[in-house]
Amino acid sequence: MDKSSVALARQPAAVGRQVQLSGWVRTRRDSKGGFSFLELNDGSCFGNIQVIADGKLANYESEVKKLTAGSSVTVSGEVRASPAQGQPTEIHAETVTVHGGADPETYALQKKRHSFEFLRTLAHLRPRTNTFGAVARVRNCVCRSIHDFFQEQGFLYVHPPIITGSDCEGAGQMFKVTTLDLGKLPRQGQAVDFAQDFFGRPTYLTVSGQLEAEVFACSLGKVYTFGPTFRAENSNTSRHLAEFWMVEPEMAFYDLHDNMDLAEAFLKRIIRDVLQRCPEDMQFFNERIDPAVIATLEGVADSEFIRLSYTEAVDRLQKSGATFEFPAAWGNDLQAEHERYLTEQTFKRPVILYDYPSTIKPFYMRLNDDGRTVRAMDVLVPRVGEIIGGSQREERLDVLERRMKEQGLDPEAYWWYLDLRRYGTVPHSGFGLGLERTVQFVTGMGNIRDVIPFPRTPGNAEF
Ligand code: 4AD
Ligand code: MG
Repeated sequence: MDKSSVALARQPAAVGRQVQLSGWVRTRRDSKGGFSFLELNDGSCFGNIQVIADGKLANYESEVKKLTAGSSVTVSGEVRASPAQGQPTEIHAETVTVHGGADPETYALQKKRHSFEFLRTLAHLRPRTNTFGAVARVRNCVCRSIHDFFQEQGFLYVHPPIITGSDCEGAGQMFKVTTLDLGKLPRQGQAVDFAQDFFGRPTYLTVSGQLEAEVFACSLGKVYTFGPTFRAENSNTSRHLAEFWMVEPEMAFYDLHDNMDLAEAFLKRIIRDVLQRCPEDMQFFNERIDPAVIATLEGVADSEFIRLSYTEAVDRLQKSGATFEFPAAWGNDLQAEHERYLTEQTFKRPVILYDYPSTIKPFYMRLNDDGRTVRAMDVLVPRVGEIIGGSQREERLDVLERRMKEQGLDPEAYWWYLDLRRYGTVPHSGFGLGLERTVQFVTGMGNIRDVIPFPRTPGNAEF
C-alpha cells in the first residue's frame, strides 16, 4: 500500500481509497461501543484526520487503548466519508502500528494551550503544536514564492559567502570568526596577530550578501541571494534576531523607482501565494492570532503602496499632533513608533520611504544632488514596520570613495568593490527583505522568535 498523507486523505476525493498514514497522535477518545477515536497529525496540513480504531484490532487492549498525546503510529485502512461535522473524511483502521509512546507524566505538550514564552523553552517539540506547524508551512510557502518570483523573471540565484572580511552595512555589528585560542592570543605588539588566524586576516559572519551580489549584477544583470545573515546587535526586541534570513535582489540598470516597483510587486506576490496556498493555516492565524490578518493582507495585495520622501514623512509626523516617545526630527532614524504611525494611522497601508539623510545610511547608497540625502528606500508595513531596506547604489568612483572615508572605512580594503566602478560602472539598485519579518507580517505572529525554528538572540542559543 502506498504511503499517503493526512492532507490527501482528508480530501473528499480520497473516499474509498486504502491508505497508510504515519504521524503523531494528538488525542485519543474511547467510545462506549468498544472502539476508539484517534486524532492523527502528520504535518502535511493544519488539520488532523480522525482514525477509528476498532476493538477487534489485535493490539487494541495492549497498545491502542494506551495511546497518549505525542505517541507515534502508522495506520492503514480505508478512507470513508465522515458523518461528523467539520471533517469530510475519516479512516477505518485495519492495523495500527505503534512506534513510540509519550509518557503523559513527563511529555510537556498536553492538550491545554501553552504560552509562546513557554514553548520557546521547548524549541525541539513546538513544531508539533498547531501554531508552529502552521508557521513552518507558511514560512516554506514564502520561500517557494521568493524563488518562483525571481526565477520567473529571469534572475540568477547566487550564493555569497557566509564568512567575509567586509562589513557591508558599516555598522560594526559583526560576529568574529576565528580558530585562534582565545586564552592564548598571538600578539603583534598590543594588537592580536590575525596573520596567524585561519584566513590570515580578521573575518566575520556576513551581515548581508549585497556587496557580492553587486559583483554578479554588474556582470550578469539581475541576480538574487537568499541565505542566513548575522548581526551582533544587542537588541532584545520582537523584531530582531542575531541570525536571520535575507533575500537580496540586485539589478543592473535599475534606478530607485524600478527598485520600488520590484519590491512592491514582490511583496504582493508573496502575500497572494500565501493566501492561495495556505488557506487553512491562514484561517487559523486569523482566528487565534490576529483577527485582522487576512483582511490586512488582502488589502495590501490590492492597494498601491504609498511613496513618500523621508523629509515629507518627518514633516507629517511633526504635524500629526501625535505624541511619540522620541519626537521625529530630520536627521534621526525613524523609530518603530513612527513607522507604525505612518502605516497604521496615517495611510493604513504599506509605505515606501525614500531619500534618507546620508548620515544615517550606509556608504554604498547613491548621493542625491542636494548633497545631504541618499537614494535609500525602506518599505514599511503595518504592525512590523521596516520589512525591506534598499537603495540605488553609488556608481561614481570618486563619490563612493569620499563617502567611505566620511564613514571611517578604508577604500583600500574594498578595492574589489571599487573595481566595479572603475571598469564598466552602471547604475544599479537592490534591496533586502527580512524573511522572518515577512513571516511575522503574513501570519500576524507578534514575536520574531516564534517564526524561525531555532531563534538566536542575545543570551539564547540552547537548541
Ligand atoms: O535594512 P537592512 O540592514 O539592509 C541591508 O542589509 C542591505 N544590505 C540590503 C540590500 O540593499 N541588499 O536589512 C534588510 C532587511 C530589513 O528591512 C529587515 O527586514 C531585515 O533585513 N533585518 C532583520 N531581521 C531580523 N533581525 C534583524 N536583526 C534584522 N536586521 C535587518
Ligand atoms: Mg534597514
